[in-house]
Order: sequence, then C-alpha cells, then structure tokens
Amino acid sequence: MKSATYTGLCITFFVISLNVTGAEKLSEGDKMARLCFECHTADNNNPDPLIPKLIGQDVDYLVNQTLDYKSGRRISTLMADVLENVKTKDIRAISEYFASRPAMTGTKKETELGKKGKDVYLSRNCHFCHGLDADPATAYIDGAPLIKGQNKEYMYKTMKDMQTGKRPVDIFNLMQIVLLKLTDDEIEALSEYISSL
Ligand code: HEC
Ligand code: HEC
Repeated sequence: MKSATYTGLCITFFVISLNVTGAEKLSEGDKMARLCFECHTADNNNPDPLIPKLIGQDVDYLVNQTLDYKSGRRISTLMADVLENVKTKDIRAISEYFASRPAMTGTKKETELGKKGKDVYLSRNCHFCHGLDADPATAYIDGAPLIKGQNKEYMYKTMKDMQTGKRPVDIFNLMQIVLLKLTDDEIEALSEYISSL
C-alpha cells in the first residue's frame, strides 16, 4: 500500500517536472502571451463575445493595434490596464505567438440575415480589401485584418466605433468612409455574415 502511494507520488513528480521542462522550451513570446489568455484564448473560444479573437490574425495588425491601445490612440480600459505591465519591446513577440496559431473560425450557418449581409458585403466592395467570403488570399489590396470567423458581437461594436470615429482607422480613413453610408441593420447583417463563414 505504502509503496503504491510512493510510486504514485514519484509518477506525479515526474509528470510535473516534464511539464516544467516543456514550459521552458516555449519562446519568450509564448510565455508572455499568457498575460492575455484570461481574455484572448489560444484557441477559438474567448470568454466574452465582445473580446476579439486574435488567433491567426496578421502579425503587423496585432502589433499596431496593441501599440494604439498602449498609447491611448485606441481606447479600451481593459486593454490599457493589461498593457501597463507589458513592455513595448515585447509586443511583437506576443503578437507573433497569436498570429502563429491556427486561424479563427466561425460557426458555419446560413440565415436570412447572413444572406443579406453577403449582398451588402459585395455591393460595398468589402472584398476589395478583405477578400471574397472574407478570405484574405483573394483581396486586391493588402493590409486589411483577418475578419473571417471573428465574433459577431465584437465586429458589430467595432464597426460602429469606426463609423462614429470612436476607434481611429488607418490607410486614409477608408474603413470609416465605407461604413459612413451603412445603416445599423446593414452592419448587423454584415457581422452575421462574416462570423458565420
Ligand atoms: C481583461 C481582458 C483582456 C486582456 C487580459 C487582454 N485583452 Fe486585448 N482586448 C480586450 C478587449 C475587451 C478588446 C476589445 C476592445 C475594443 O472594443 O476596442 C481587446 C482587443 C485587443 C486587440 C484588438 C484586436 C482587433 O481585432 O482589432 C488586440 C490586438 C489585443 N486586444 C491584444 C491583447 C494582448 C497582446 C494582450 C496581452 C498582453 C491582451 N490583449 C490582453 C480585453 C483584454
Ligand atoms: C480599402 C480597404 C477596405 C475596405 C473596402 C473595407 N475594409 Fe474593413 N478594414 C480595412 C482596414 C485597413 C482595417 C483595419 C482598421 C484600420 O484602418 O486601422 C479594417 C478593419 C475592419 C474590421 C475590424 C477588424 C478587427 O479585428 O477589429 C472589420 C469588422 C471590417 N474591416 C469589416 C469590413 C466590412 C464589412 C467592409 C465593407 C462594408 C470593409 N471592412 C471594407 C480595410 C478595408
């Protein structure tokens, strides 16, 4: 009995030490990314639909947005609090970790709202920059973030933020110009479509 317990303990210690060794093999960026896991997980499920998925996202986009939160150019109290503990020089390594994960995916479904969203998507030329069916490989212009499979609620919020100027945009304000002409219903339909791809 005693020796069985002892063997059990030995195995437990062996397994724990294996894990520790495994952790040491992770790169610095992987380790630092743990600061983000409370909200942005390493898989496809974040705890809250208003928290964007970062996995498989373009690395430069991740770096730029994180720097924008750190400088207060893009506003989020939650992000600003976390970034107080993150050094600017470490942001690229953390972003590389998320960018290297398998890309985010949506919940595939076909709804009436989604079909309406697809019509708006094509008629407003979203595919020029984000690609047909939001596949970045088919975009004509580089530099737009991955949106295929992103959370619906987050996309609706962030498009409204860009439309109203609450979230700053780059490349000649193009995202805002595109959004200015859209109604809330159209933005909801777009979010439904893109999140269900
Ligand atoms: C306490 C929760 C929380 C933690 C921890 C957190 N974030 Fe965020 N993050 C958010 C929220 C909420 C948003 C969306 C804010 C908004 O609407 O602009 C966000 C947005 C982002 C975005 C914008 C993504 C996009 O698609 O535009 C990036 C990049 C990001 N976070 C990176 C990080 C990194 C890197 C870390 C770790 C160092 C981190 N976050 C930790 C809550 C968090
Ligand atoms: C001219 C190129 C261009 C066009 C057209 C365009 N986008 Fe974008 N989109 C961008 C860029 C660049 C960003 C990153 C935000 C910025 O400008 O900093 C972005 C950001 C976004 C985001 C936020 C992604 C995130 O993770 O926060 C969503 C959602 C989005 N676009 C959806 C759309 C939809 C829907 C359309 C059509 C109505 C559209 N875009 C048209 C270039 C474009």
